[in-house]
Amino acid sequence: MKLAIVGGGSTYTPELIDGFARLRDTLPIGELVLIDPAADRLELIAGLARRIFARQGHPAAVTTTTDVTAGVQGADAVLLQLRVGGQAARDRDETWPLECGCVGQETTGAGGLAKALRTVPVVLDIAERVRRANPDAWIVDFTNPVGIVTRALQTAGHRAVGLCNVAIGFQRRFAAHLGVAPELVRLDHVGLNHLTWERGVTLLDAPGAAGGREVLPELLAAHGEAIAADLHLPLPVIRRLGVVPSYYLRYFYQHDLVVEELRAKGSRAAEVAAIEKQLLELYADPALDTKPELLGRRGGAFYSEAAVQLIGALLGTDGTTGVQVVNTRNDGILPFLPDDAVIEVPAEVDPQGVRPLPQRPVEPLYAGLIAAVTSYEQLALDAALHGGRDRVFDALLAHPLIGQIDLADRLTDRLIAHNRAHLAWA
Ligand code: G6P
Ligand code: MN
Repeated sequence: MKLAIVGGGSTYTPELIDGFARLRDTLPIGELVLIDPAADRLELIAGLARRIFARQGHPAAVTTTTDVTAGVQGADAVLLQLRVGGQAARDRDETWPLECGCVGQETTGAGGLAKALRTVPVVLDIAERVRRANPDAWIVDFTNPVGIVTRALQTAGHRAVGLCNVAIGFQRRFAAHLGVAPELVRLDHVGLNHLTWERGVTLLDAPGAAGGREVLPELLAAHGEAIAADLHLPLPVIRRLGVVPSYYLRYFYQHDLVVEELRAKGSRAAEVAAIEKQLLELYADPALDTKPELLGRRGGAFYSEAAVQLIGALLGTDGTTGVQVVNTRNDGILPFLPDDAVIEVPAEVDPQGVRPLPQRPVEPLYAGLIAAVTSYEQLALDAALHGGRDRVFDALLAHPLIGQIDLADRLTDRLIAHNRAHLAWA
């Protein structure tokens, strides 16, 4: 089995390598190709990847290339984890919206739109090369904003699934609170990427078993403080709703408070850049043959487990049909959204594809926001594909965190000014 990682020179890659090494029975990789435009970083990461594999007795060959077309030849699956413009572009996404009193974040609000506009054309170009190399290859997209990027890929007819670690993070945390194996915890997870709620938590009798017992009320009763503290959201609201929002909901539910906090501290991009600098120094040590602890200070916990499970199920290498939370086409699952919207819900995954599980009606408290952000995502994709100031403005006007003409105007000007180098039409 051949796997290619586009953005393989990322400091995150050792997280994936560590998972591939530990979980090789689920995903028997024969060849791993790391693809990245940064040749120096590529060699550094590949060196560490080879040492991690060697230490764990993993037989996979690790190769590198700066050429996407060459790298994806013969790949059965291609992981996309790139960041157009690097942390410098992210730093801007997190900064200029604050000047207008809006949240500065890499996936939510105006910064997220900027990231979508930079990213969608690049990802579509890569996907086209993958399709030409092997029309049967699966594309697994980690690249943010995952909802919009996956919608772009699926609308263009690519064999693509979007993946995020928010759901697997909740599964692992809830399992730890319950004192059970994560495979016994199934989430009733609904919404869009970075806009989701856990409406239920089922404790299964055995991995993959039908039935099970609803345990969210007892989880909130026994561990509510810890869960709310993790999310920085007020416990009384979570308890009353009986639902656990993802921490990205804080950008909506406590928007103005978050803006104040963000104004008072440096950007996450700057923090990440400092961590990355240290990581690269560690990776350069030829004696290092494990994932360093410092990588735990990045947000990507459990990415590797989520990726191995998903690719293993898509390629049928683990022989099971698993239920996993993924980003995929709505197709009527949430009847108040268009079919081609991309939603984040549990789905059955196997080599035939991804089949989202039916969802019970979504309460108005969540459905309204989901519908509004879906419309924004549709307009954002339109702007990313066709460009133009008006399309950018429309997407911002439709965003529930923006919504005012004057604000949308000022944000549009800033977005374009800060991203001209990455926007072919600007
Ligand atoms: C979580 C999100 C990802 C995001 C990451 C950021 O894992 O699900 O979509 O990319 O956090 O982490 P970072 O360390 O880059 O701030
Ligand atoms: Mn994510």
